[in-house]
Order: sequence, then C-alpha cells, then structure tokens
Amino acid sequence: MATQTQSDKDRVIIFDTTLRDGEQCPGATMTHEEKLEVAELLDDMGVDVIEAGFPIASDGDFAAVNEIARRAKNSVICGLSRASPKDIDRCAEAIKPAKRRRIHTFLSTSPVHMKWKLQKEPHEVYEMVISQVTRARSHTDDVEWSAEDGTRTEHDFLCRCVEAAINAGATTINIPDTVGYTVPEEYMALFKMVRERVPNSDKAVFSVHCHDDLGMAVANSLAGIAGGARQIECTINGIGERAGNTALEEVVMAMQVRNDVMPYWTGIKPAMLTRASKLVSAVTSFPVQYNKAIVGRNAFAHESGIHQDGMLKNAQTYEIMTPETVGVKQTSLVMGKHSGRHAFEHKLEELGYHLAANQLEDAFVRFKALADKKKQIYDEDIEALVDEEIATAHDRIKIISLTVIAGTMGPQSATLTLDIEGRHITTQSTGNGPVDAIFNAIRALVPHEAKLELYQVHAVTEGTDAQAEVSVRLSENGRAYTAKGADPDTLVASAKAYLGALNKLTSKRGKEPGVENRIHSTDVG
Ligand code: KIV
Ligand code: ZN
Repeated sequence: MATQTQSDKDRVIIFDTTLRDGEQCPGATMTHEEKLEVAELLDDMGVDVIEAGFPIASDGDFAAVNEIARRAKNSVICGLSRASPKDIDRCAEAIKPAKRRRIHTFLSTSPVHMKWKLQKEPHEVYEMVISQVTRARSHTDDVEWSAEDGTRTEHDFLCRCVEAAINAGATTINIPDTVGYTVPEEYMALFKMVRERVPNSDKAVFSVHCHDDLGMAVANSLAGIAGGARQIECTINGIGERAGNTALEEVVMAMQVRNDVMPYWTGIKPAMLTRASKLVSAVTSFPVQYNKAIVGRNAFAHESGIHQDGMLKNAQTYEIMTPETVGVKQTSLVMGKHSGRHAFEHKLEELGYHLAANQLEDAFVRFKALADKKKQIYDEDIEALVDEEIATAHDRIKIISLTVIAGTMGPQSATLTLDIEGRHITTQSTGNGPVDAIFNAIRALVPHEAKLELYQVHAVTEGTDAQAEVSVRLSENGRAYTAKGADPDTLVASAKAYLGALNKLTSKRGKEPGVENRIHSTDVG
C-alpha cells in the first residue's frame, strides 16, 4: 500500500458543495438545522471550502449560509451567485460573518447555453464576466469564477473569458463539466491547454467540478488534477443534480490509496468519511447504495469462501485499505435494556455523535423504549434512532399514537393521534391496505396536496425483530422532500417517514419566494 509524500505543489483543495449542488437535487432538501449539522461536520473533517448555499434563492438559503458563516471554525465559507449585481451583493451579505469567505460567481460560456439559456452574444457574455468578477472582488479578495458548461465551450472563447476573469480579480477558476459529458483524457488536456494558453493563468488556482451522467465524475476530476487543477468540487456520497457530482470520499481515498501514481494530498481526515456519509444520507434520506465505493454497506464485506479464507490469512489479500481508515467500526452487539445512560453516551461518542443535553435525554428515552421491544441492539439501530432524533428535533407535527387494523378481513383502518404544534388531534381513516389507511389519516389531519413519489422499506439489521427503515418522498410545486422513519413496527416507521417529509414541506412553505430562483433558471442578467 502506498504511503503519502507531501509537497505543497501537490496539495489539493477540497471544495464541498453538498449543501449547494447536493441540496439542489430533487428530494435532497435539508432543513436549516440539518444544514448546520452537516456544515459543522465538514468543517471538523478538514474540508477547505464549504459551499454553503445559494443565498439569493430564498430567505431560507440566505439564513443557512449566514449562520454557517457565523459558526465556521476553519473552513472558508462560500456562497454561489449568478452574474447579476443583486445576486452577488446578497451572497456577500450572507457570507459576511465568516472569518474566511469566498464568493463563487458563474456564467455560461458554451454556444448552446449562451444562445438558448442566456440569449446573449459572446461579446455580451465576455463583458458580464468582467463586471461580475469586479463586483464580487469589491466584497472579498477570495473570488471564484466558473465557466458554466465549460467542457462544451469553444477553446478560444474559454481562454479569453478565463484571462478576463483573472484580470478582474478571480483567484480561483472553475471549469465545470456541467452536463457530465467529458472523458478523463479530454478533461486533463483542457486544463493543460487553458493553463498554457492563458497568459495570467499562474495567478489563479484551477478547479474541477464534474457531474456523473456517464459515471466518470471521479475519474474526470482526478484527470483534471493531473492536468494542473488543484481544487476538486465534490459532495458527500456524490449527491447532486441528475446523476450527482464527484463523490468526496472517493476522490480523497483514491489520492490516498494510490498516492504512488497520484502524488496529491488533501487536509481531509479520512476516519470521518463514514460518519459524514451516514449523516448526509440521514438528513437527505437518500440511501447509500450497498456497493458504493468507500462508504457502501458492502464496501468491506467479504462473502465468498475464497475471499474469507484469504482475509483470515492476511487482510491485504482482498483489502486495499482497512475499514478503520475510513471510520468503519466492526458491527458489534452493543447494548440491551440493562445498559445505562453512561454506556449509551459512550457509544454515541464512539459513533461520532455530539448531542445537546436535551437531545441526548430524548435519544436515551427512545433507546430504552427500543430496548424493551428488541433484545439485541446494534450500532446501526442506535444510528437510525439518533439520526431520527436529530432530523425530528424541530418538527411541528409529531406522532403520538397509532393503532392499525390490518389483515384479510378489510377494510384496513388506522386510528392516529398527532401533536400539531402542541395540539393533540385524532382521526380514523380506512384505506386500500394499512399504509394507505395511515397516509389517509395523516391527510385528514393535515390537509395537503403533495404527491407521494416514493415509499421504500429497508431492514436496519437482520432478523424478524429488526427495525424497519422507511423512506418517503413527497413533492409539491416542483420541489421534493424526502424523510426516513425507523421503528421495529413497519407501520409506525411508515407514519414517521411520511410525517418527516410533511414537516420538511410545511417548514419550507411560506419561506421561499418560489422555485424560479433556483440556479438553473434562465434569468442571469
Ligand atoms: O455544474 C455546474 O456547472 C455548476 C456551476 C454553478 C459551478 O454547478
Ligand atoms: Zn454542478
């Protein structure tokens, strides 16, 4: 296995955009508190730049970026803005409290985007590049400029825009593969070409930003680094628009494990990668695919007899990194109903959770209730329980009780009592099956028009007494809200998941001016 040798010229800046490009993808909406939690973990994990959001998009986005800026300890806090002065000024205001702050301003430069999206001539776009960077520089000396759809941009025009952006004061130049179209060799050559041809290219750091439409985001990002870029824009678990972005955990570990052929290094603490993956999965309710590199449940599992035999003789036969390097702990039988508060607190620390006193108290009560129902409690059970505690801490609608009549002698019915902002109300509904009856009862108590887009059930661990983990996605007015619920009773987990998504939806309602402000709108002027 390779060891890392570190020289300054090979240091790669990790720019995390989980809270912006990641949060922007359908269904990955996070609440204010969830964004703060993710940002705190990214900061602790050694992320150099956190793109905390797109402040002009909504008051909610502004407030989250602003609070993250206030709380950040080490990371540079970055906000995204389009080319208009209003966008840039709003972004500057949001990041103001940060010790170290960056404005990331972007503009499309490809023929197809200029013609159809911007409806502007190249000379107009060129002038806008200069004015947007100049405006951003009037607020901070750390300015990143992105040539949106850079990989489909004509080379001469790209070079002219990059030169103009650097002359206007951009300190980082990002050339995104916005539509996930490039291939590694081409992307590497693009960076070499731009860095060679642009006379002032040595005055800026070049950055890669890749989407995974052809499954090459990680390979393309690493190729861009080989071409001279020194910043990678990425997200935890690779979440992001369409097929997602470059996965942070994958690029970081690729550079570490294969440092012999990619002599680059980062400031990331790899032992926190698993925790980061779990947190982002919990708050977005996006499950991590089992065979996902680095953080998938099976990433270090060895099923076949031959592999197990090899592993027992020497782990290096089938493992290129140890699970502990990325923070995977061996699943252990942890506790049962006799375990006390101290053991519970200790276990939470070991799993990487730092809960406030009241959250700890609530989590302990839930743990005891779970231990009454389930004999053996595993790490995964505790994680599901605590993730739910974090996700529901600020919910306005909570479940008080649920009784369901199911079975062959329909109609199935659900009697449900909810706490809605302190008021307890009960209803009984029937449905086409018990889950339908529960969801009808919720709709009767909290009338809404949102469409149920996804209903999925997983088992947290093995065995018939395992907790069920249900994911529900609701959509309204073009935005999707996903949440998870866990409980040994699948029907209770279903109700919790539906209410989780509904809580996200209702807390967003009224806070946002509308979806037209999301970044892929045509209004960039
Ligand atoms: O994919 C993209 O081009 C972006 C830009 C805003 C950098 O996300
Ligand atoms: Zn993007």
